[in-house]
Parts: sequence; C-alpha cells; structure tokens
Amino acid sequence: SLPASVRIVEVGPRDGLQNEHSVSTADKITLIDMLSAAGLSYIESGAFVSPKWVPQMADAAEVFAGIARQAGVTYAALTPNLKGYQAAKAAGATEVAIFGAASEAFSQKNINCSISESLERFAPVLEAAKADGIKVRGYVSCVVGCPYQGEVAPTEVALVAKALLELGCYEISLGDTIGVGTPQKVNAMLDAVLSMVPAEKLAVHFHDTYGQALTNIYVALNRGVAVVDSAVAGLGGCPYAAGASGNVATEDVVYLLNGLGIRHGVDLTALAQAGWFITDKLGKQPSSKVGLALKAK
Ligand code: HMG
Ligand code: MG
Repeated sequence: SLPASVRIVEVGPRDGLQNEHSVSTADKITLIDMLSAAGLSYIESGAFVSPKWVPQMADAAEVFAGIARQAGVTYAALTPNLKGYQAAKAAGATEVAIFGAASEAFSQKNINCSISESLERFAPVLEAAKADGIKVRGYVSCVVGCPYQGEVAPTEVALVAKALLELGCYEISLGDTIGVGTPQKVNAMLDAVLSMVPAEKLAVHFHDTYGQALTNIYVALNRGVAVVDSAVAGLGGCPYAAGASGNVATEDVVYLLNGLGIRHGVDLTALAQAGWFITDKLGKQPSSKVGLALKAK
C-alpha cells in the first residue's frame, strides 16, 4: 500500500548543478534559499569532491557559508572520502552522503576505485561522522543498469546496499543513474534489496533519461519506499554517465504525490518559481512538465 507521507530529498543544487558550468555561487545560494522557502526540508546543497574531477562543485564551501539556514532543514553534502567529509563538516553541512555503485566499471570511472576499495574509504567517514554526531546517507549508483557494463544484477545492488547499511548509513538511496529502469526491472531490483534491507531504510533516486522515472517512483511507493530524491526543474545528469539526463523533476513528483493524497510539505507554486529562476539563469526551460504547465497558466 502507499505511504501516508513522503520525504522529498531535493538534489538539484548538487546532482543538477554538478553538470552545469555557468552557475554563479550567488545563484546557487538563491536557488537553495528558494527551495527551503518552498517547504523542502532536505536539500543536498553541494559536493566536497575533487575540483579536478567536478569543477562545478568547487565553490561548495562558499555556498554553505552563504545560504540562509532555516530551522528544520537539512543541508546535505556529498563526500567521497575523509578529506571531503572534513571539508563538509567545516562548511557546516548538516548531513553527508557517501556514494558507491553496484557496478565495478562505474565505481572506477566515478570515484577511481573498486567497490570493495570504496567501502574501505567510506568506513573512516562513517567513523568520524558518528563521533561528530553527523548522519550519513549512502547512495548506490547503477541499480538497474550501468553506462559502461550494461546489465547490473539485482543481487549486486542488494549486497552493496546492505554493506552501506552495515557501515552505518541511516538510509540507502537506490540510484538509477542513467534512467534506464522500467517497472519490471525496478520491481526485480527491489525484490532483491528488500530481502536484505527494510523499506524504511530505503530511498529511490531516478534519473528521467527515458521518461520512466515517475512510473518507477509509483512502483517504489507501492513497495513501501517513502523517500524520493528529485531535482527542481529536472536539472542535471551525471558527469560520469554520458547521455544521462536529469533527475526526475521535483515539481512532477509533488504533482504525483498531490494526486495520490500523499503528504510532502512542499508548496508547488513556490517550487515551480525556483525551477524557473534557475533555468532562466541557465538559459533553458525546466524539463519539468508540471513546471511548464504552471507557467503557461
Ligand atoms: P583520486 O584522484 O583517486 O583521489 O580521486 P586521490 O585520493 O588520489 O587524490 C587526488 C587529488 O584529489 C589530490 O590532490 C587530493 O588532495 C584531491 P592533489 O594532491 O593532486 O592536488 N582530493 C580531493 N579534493 C577535494 N575534495 C576531496 C578530495 N579527495 C581527494 N574530497 C575522488 C578520488 C573520489 C576524490 C575523485 O574521484 C572524485 O572527486 N570523484 C567525484 C566524482 C563525482 O562527484 N561524481 C558525481 C557525483 S556521484 C552521482 O552523481 C551519482 C548520484 O547522484 C546517484 C546516482 O544518480 O546514481 C549520487
Ligand atoms: Mg544522481
């Protein structure tokens, strides 16, 4: 059955803007403040990764310093290793996220190490965060397909998800990094993961490359998953997954949840305005159908 409420994890300022070269620090800050004003309670606001690998996130500390923090809002950061964790903590990130993959090939391209090496690098991050009282979220990428190796077995996804949970992550976000999932594949993947990790510990993170994200979210909601990652205006892609388009648009997720009578706490009009703000800066239109429809009204 469907959950009564869903927590939306807004990843636009990180997953979206990590792919956009032209966004100023001030515009990133304004976007994050518009998102918190729209009622989003969890905003992934940047990444403390190598600036040689992802230059778009090089100003993460300045972004964290500039936002108008709202009570009850989590401002999270992506941290691949201890160096990133320490920088995120110094910048005042409320929470951090480590990111692994269910595909060996993607792990190598994205974080330059094998899956088992990545778990070794994450362990000290979790230890330090535990000592500091900072919660750690875990991502698994390529849960239904990999841009380099193609098929990914559901069991591999489940094993990495379980390993991240055992390391101490409070929640595991299952990423369809390249947006290739369809309901049958997503159900098969969730069968495997749910046999090792309870639904209360899971989130879903769909990219919308093939237009299947909302359908897949509906599948996951019906399996008891109540945390959904999305990006305002459908921003983004992945620098290590050529051709991958943005995350499912937050506006579209909110519209779906409204239709299903599921609580989420977000003001759709204010959210759509945030989507138009950032896409105006990028010189394009939102890839959110709902964002476009609301503007046309
Ligand atoms: P590496 O080159 O193997 O690292 O990169 P290294 O430890 O050998 O260090 C090399 C250099 O990087 C050194 O500097 C380090 O100090 C520096 P140098 O001595 O050469 O001047 N360095 C750092 N600098 C800043 N912050 C750090 C950091 N760590 C090392 N944290 C590394 C390994 C993981 C650092 C690199 O591969 C990296 O930064 N990768 C990030 C890739 C990334 O951000 N990808 C996008 C996010 S993942 C995603 O989008 C998927 C997701 O949305 C879910 C989904 O959709 O599936 C989450
Ligand atoms: Mg992503």
